[in-house]
This record gives sequence, C-alpha cells and structure tokens, in this order.
Amino acid sequence: MSENLFFLKLLFLSILPLASSQHNEFIFTGFSATTAGGGGGSNNVSSGGGGSNNVSLNGVAEIDNNGILRLTNETSRLIGRVFYPHPLLFKNSSAADVGGGRVASFSTAFAFAIVPEYPKLGGHGFAFVLATTQKLAGAQPSQYLGLLNSSDNGNATNHVFAVEFDTVQDFEFFDINDNHVGVDVNSLVSSKSAAASYYDSGGQPIPLNLKSGDTIQSWIDYDGKAKLLNVTLSPFSSKPKTPLFSFPIDLAPVLQNEMYVGFSASTGLLASSHYLFGWSFKMNGVAASLDLSSLPSLPRPSDKKSPTFIAVSVSLSVIIFVLIAAAVASYGFYRYKNREIIEPWELEYGPHRFTYKSLRRATKGFRDRELLGAGGFGKVYKGVLSSSGADIAVKRISHDSKQGIREFVAEIASIGRLRHRNLVQLQGWCRYKSDLLLVYDYMPNGSLDHFLFQSSAAAPPRPVLTWNDRFRILRGVASALLYLHEEWESVVIHRDIKASNVLLDADFNGRLGDFGLAKLHEHGANPSTTRVVGTLGYLAPELTRTGKATASSDAFAFGALVLEVVCGRRPIEPKASPEELILVDWVWEKWSEKQWRDVVDPMLEGRYEMEEVEVAIKVGLLCSQPIPAARPTMREVARYLDGADTTEVPNVPAPPPAELYDGSSAVKEGMGFEDFVHSYPSSSFEKVSASSPVTGPVDGGSPGPASYMRVPLFSV
Ligand SMILES: *[C@@H]1O[C@H](CO)[C@@H](O)[C@H](O)[C@H]1NC(C)=O
Ligand SMILES: *[C@@H]1O[C@H](CO)[C@@H](O)[C@H](O)[C@H]1NC(C)=O
Ligand SMILES: *[C@@H]1O[C@H](CO)[C@@H](O)[C@H](O)[C@H]1NC(C)=O
Ligand SMILES: *[C@@H]1O[C@H](CO)[C@@H](O)[C@H](O)[C@H]1NC(C)=O
Ligand SMILES: *[C@@H]1O[C@H](CO)[C@@H](O)[C@H](O)[C@H]1NC(C)=O
Ligand SMILES: *[C@@H]1O[C@H](CO)[C@@H](O)[C@H](O)[C@H]1NC(C)=O
Ligand SMILES: *[C@@H]1O[C@H](CO)[C@@H](O)[C@H](O)[C@H]1NC(C)=O
Repeated sequence: MSENLFFLKLLFLSILPLASSQHNEFIFTGFSATTAGGGGGSNNVSSGGGGSNNVSLNGVAEIDNNGILRLTNETSRLIGRVFYPHPLLFKNSSAADVGGGRVASFSTAFAFAIVPEYPKLGGHGFAFVLATTQKLAGAQPSQYLGLLNSSDNGNATNHVFAVEFDTVQDFEFFDINDNHVGVDVNSLVSSKSAAASYYDSGGQPIPLNLKSGDTIQSWIDYDGKAKLLNVTLSPFSSKPKTPLFSFPIDLAPVLQNEMYVGFSASTGLLASSHYLFGWSFKMNGVAASLDLSSLPSLPRPSDKKSPTFIAVSVSLSVIIFVLIAAAVASYGFYRYKNREIIEPWELEYGPHRFTYKSLRRATKGFRDRELLGAGGFGKVYKGVLSSSGADIAVKRISHDSKQGIREFVAEIASIGRLRHRNLVQLQGWCRYKSDLLLVYDYMPNGSLDHFLFQSSAAAPPRPVLTWNDRFRILRGVASALLYLHEEWESVVIHRDIKASNVLLDADFNGRLGDFGLAKLHEHGANPSTTRVVGTLGYLAPELTRTGKATASSDAFAFGALVLEVVCGRRPIEPKASPEELILVDWVWEKWSEKQWRDVVDPMLEGRYEMEEVEVAIKVGLLCSQPIPAARPTMREVARYLDGADTTEVPNVPAPPPAELYDGSSAVKEGMGFEDFVHSYPSSSFEKVSASSPVTGPVDGGSPGPASYMRVPLFSV
C-alpha cells in the first residue's frame, strides 16, 4: 500500500491539468498553480495569465509536489481558497429569457479529504462556492468558512452561492449537526441541509464521516431548466444513483452573469486540514466523475517536500526499505501472534499478572452482555473471578503500537502499587497479543456523571445525589489527587479528571479511576500533531499550548468537576441561555453578585449546607483560574474542603476578579469565542450516557463529548 503512494507520486509529478480552450469545462486530476499561494493569510490572488488553466490560490491554500491542494492546515483561524482563474458565464441578463436570463445548467465533481487536528472535532469546513470575485474581501474564518462575515451574512447583495461541507455545529446558523452538507444562499444559514451520507446501489443511505480523513467525492449538479440542485456524496469513484438531496432552487437572483467558481475553507480555534485532490466542472453538461484511485493521495505526516530528483531516488530506496521492513515486520508479527510465551520482562511484574484464560472465564468470554461501557480507551466488562468469587471490572485496551506496550506495562505495574481509599484499585493486568487487560475493583454504582446529568434514556432513573454525598465525593477525589500528586513515592499526574472517571462504590464514596492511563494516548491516533491528552472542558488553557500535563492542570480539571457537582451542569451547556453557556463564567457572575445560591443544582431542592456549598464554589473558581500558578495545590484544596465541616470558619481565599477568568477576552470577541463554544459534536455524549450503567473506569476518552468545551482552549 505504501508502495502505491510512491508510484502515484512519481506518476503525478508529470501530470498537467487538461482543459478545453473555452472556459466552460475543465478537469484537474491533481493541481498546479500559477504561482505559490500567498502565504500568511494574505488575500492576494495569483491569477492565471492568458489561456492558462492553472488554478488561482488565495489565502493559505497551497499545492504540494504531489499535486494535492491543501486549502488549510491545522493552524487556527485560517482561510484558504482556490478558484478557477477565469469567470464563467452562468447567465445572460440581456437575453430575452423568462425572468431576465435563465441560469445555465452546471455540474461539478470533486474529491476531498478533511483531516482534523483532534480526531473527533472538526474545524470548520469548506464550501464549493460561486462568487462574483475571487477575493471575498472582509470574509471571516471559523464558522463563516471564508465566505461572509457577521455583518454581511444573509444580505442578498452578496451574490454568494455555496454548498458547505461543515464539520462543526454552529448553533447561531441552526446547523443540524457537526457533519453535514448544506446549501448556502448569501448566508451561512443553510436553505437546505442534510447529514453527510450516501446511497448504496440498493438505495440505502449509509452515513459518511466528513472528518474521517478519507477521500470523499462529491457531485453538485444544477439543472437550470428544472431549477433543481442535486448534491451527491460517495467514498467511491462512481456516482450513486440517488443524490444526498435534490433541492428546488432558482439561482437566477443569486448569480450574476459571470461568476468565479472555486472552494473556500476555514479553520477556527479548532482546525482541520482541508484537501482537494481533483476537480472537474462542466457547463450545460455532466461533469466527469473522478477516478479516486488515480488521484494523488495524502502525504504521510513525515513526507517532506523535496525536489523531483531527490524524490525519485529517495522514493526508490524507500520502496526497497519498506518492502524489507514489511517482510521483517510481518514475519515478526506472525511469530508474535502465534505464541503465548510470557516474556521475561513480564515476570518482573509478576504479582499482578492474570492469565488470559482466567479473565476470559471471569467475563464469560468477553460477551456483550457483560459489557459495562465503552470509552476512548476500550471496552469495560464485568466479571467474577472464579478463584475468589470477587467482582471485577476488566478493561480491554487494544494497543496498536507494539513498541509502546512494554513501557506501558511497566507504567501499569507501578500504578498497580498505588493504594488509596479513593482510587479505584487496579488489581492486575494481562497482556494478550496486542491487547492489554486491566483488572479493577468492581464499582457497583457506576460513574458520577450518570448521577449528575440524568439522561432521560437511563432506564431506572437514578436517585439524586444528596449534598452530603456530593461533598463527600468531592473530598474523596481531592484526597486521592493529593495522594497522587504529593503523597506517593513519585508524582503521578492523572491527566483526565472528569465526572465519568469518578466511580462510586457501594457506599457512594467517590473513587478516581483511569489514573495514568491517559499516557497511553501519547502513542495514539493522529501522529501529525502533538496530542493534548484529556477531555475538552476540563483541559487547562496552558495544556493546549504546551501539551505538558502538570499538577496544576489536574487542579484545573478538578475545579471544573467541583462546579459540575455543585451546579449539576456540564462545563458548557450549549442549550443554556448565552449568559449561562459557560459554567465558570456564570458561576463567577452569580458569585460576584452574591447570588451564588442561584447556581446550586435545583435537583437538591435547597437541601444543602450553605457553608459547604460556599467553600465548594470558591474552590471551583480558584481552581479554574487560567494562570496555573494562581491555582491552589491539591493540598490546599483538600484543606479547604476538609475545613468546611469543622466548626472553624475555613480560611478560603476569595476568588479573584472576573477578568482573570477570561484573560481570553480577545477570543470572546467576534469569531473566536463562538467558534469555540459551538464546536461540539453533540452526538458523542448522548451515546455514552444512554448506554447501560457504566461501572469500572470507563472512557479515558479521546477528547470527548463536545459539550465539555470551555473557554480555555485557546492558544492565542
Ligand atoms: C501552470 O502550472 C505549470 C505546472 O506547475 C507551470 O509549469 C506553468 O508555468 C503554469 N502556468 C502559468 C501560466 O503560470
Ligand atoms: C499553516 O499555514 C500557515 C500559513 O501558511 C503557517 O503560518 C503555519 O505555520 C502552518 N502551520 C502548520 C502546522 O503547518
Ligand atoms: C499582492 O501581490 C502583489 C504582486 O505580487 C504585491 O505587490 C502585493 O504587495 C501583494 N499584496 C499583498 C496584500 O500581499
Ligand atoms: C446575451 O444575450 C444577448 C441577446 O441575446 C446577446 O446579444 C449577447 O451576445 C449575449 N451575451 C453573451 C455574453 O453571450
Ligand atoms: C464584511 O464584509 C464586507 C464586504 O462584503 C465588508 O465591507 C465589511 O467591512 C465586513 N465587515 C466586517 C465586520 O468585517
Ligand atoms: C446589504 O448590503 C448593502 C450593501 O453592502 C447595504 O447597503 C444594506 O444595508 C445591507 N442590508 C442589510 C439588511 O444589512
Ligand atoms: C437530480 O436527482 C433527481 C433524482 O432525485 C433526478 O431525477 C434528476 O435528474 C437529477 N438532476 C440532475 C441535474 O442531476
């Protein structure tokens, strides 16, 4: 497979775009530009000289040596565009046609891929666009896709027609989800939209993930006579018979006689690379579909641009090397797969090692009925050890990178020695092929989030946690964190504190799960970016800049957890009114107005200890400060929380003024902030919370539920 890539690369270095002499039909299989794209966000248009059919790049768009056009990379708030260099004639207003000029039929097909910075979070999307200029002056990135801005959005004088491929759900534009295709007429509020999917030969819709990074082909056909727009998607070369949607629309008022055709993409605080591999277009006819296998494919993250001759020689040697390496690797893997021998180093961690057989028996063969939950790390099964009859939770993690597994097992073995009444005890582990199985104490009451955020789908409604329970849980988690940070032989950073990682034992004591596991993510998914481990909404602002987890980033996440527990709300509640959208801001405001009783979870019906709640809110706010050094240590936090139930008035400092919470105020203005808040795939959370009671450490999660987003993700 990698060999193919290199052959293609060689092949495409020699391919030039074909085009007819009239500007009403063209096809690009791979791209080339007249000049290098204007870098650094400049809106300079490099337009093709007479008769050239190279594309014009605009913004940060650039073309690599393989002919792949990258509209944006994974940097925040970029705009990248590409246009066919010459305007095309879409109608003739002076012709004596009905309504002063009918719009010509047109048809286009193009192949694209979207590779997000964070696997599950897109940012923001791209659009096929017809516009009167190539410059689109004043247009903004983020949710505006480089097409319009907040003041001209919706204005009929824009003469912008676009079909958007949007990977962020923007509530202000009433987006249906974070993976949709929409028809935009002078406005980012789509006239028609549909969740991305395609129809197979049997006419069955199959969902497509726009941000999967895979190549997707789209066809946009407009019938000027019938005034019907069809948009079709498919991961394949041939066009499905059934379009994603057919939308009746008269483009005559939208289009002017001459329009430029092209694409515009943008990123926001969350970013994706948007790629185009090929593009065909035809007026008054059907554009040729693209043969995806003959198009250039995405470069490997390590592929660096190099001159042709170097590329050739390097490619050849790499092919040979890859073949040899593949042979060695597959032989190695074959041997690896076909033996169950315990390697000597594994014996070092002897006491905790379970046999695979015993775990398989305990979980009844890992059958689905024993499944307690599934998360970013793997599936968790309930089991009963036949030797002792003890209940256990077994987390099964598939680990792709085999070289990481030894380090990881070493890590696990040391974590196995951690003992604290508020940690979910790791009893042991087992390695089976490339899977790791971690055995934990079984937690009969599942995770805290299921009690805090009741989902209507939960079969038996869970009882409301009393304030006593909540405060005890918070104190428990704080003391577990204190132990990890300061009281054990080395500093352990949890990295992924959140309500779903707080498990409840039979007596409703809070126990922290999944400690140390987040480290595994460092070997994880998208290798082209430095990964930030944790869950959005609990991520300290500095983490996204430095990527380095510290005790104070744990404290930040703990602050988010405290506020959630007090308020019974997630850090970001997209459905809340604007002033309540961001939990910490809202709490701070109510706090400064001395109205903090308003934020306490209404489910408590006023039954709580005033002093304890007050202390908890203070601690939550103190921990939520964006400046790491300003946050209290867990030792201080534990002292504040423990002081609350003694008679002496706890000496908790007052939370600092509001400005300190939005040191990001710049971000809040205009696009940045909204972008941020809106970037939440809503579906993922629903899925998790609708699952059966989750027990045992679950969802160590990749950047998880979108509704956890919170101001601090900016890195400006
Ligand atoms: C079009 O692109 C080709 C290949 O990159 C280049 O050789 C040619 O000079 C370009 N044409 C113009 C007019 O810039
Ligand atoms: C993305 O592109 C911009 C503008 O061309 C550049 O400044 C930035 O360094 C690029 N970022 C990455 C991660 O390549
Ligand atoms: C646009 O390009 C022209 C000619 O290449 C150059 O003189 C001008 O400074 C550029 N403008 C910007 C905004 O980069
Ligand atoms: C538009 O229509 C008028 C009247 O039919 C014709 O004279 C003119 O050439 C047309 N213009 C173009 C650009 O086709
Ligand atoms: C929005 O775009 C228009 C041009 O379409 C421009 O005149 C205006 O200044 C822009 N507004 C903002 C707020 O950028
Ligand atoms: C639309 O834009 C035009 C010119 O750009 C402006 O005069 C008009 O007030 C705008 N209309 C609205 C409703 O904003
Ligand atoms: C659009 O799709 C419909 C079927 O939904 C089909 O009948 C029609 O011919 C298509 N039109 C174009 C221009 O592809």
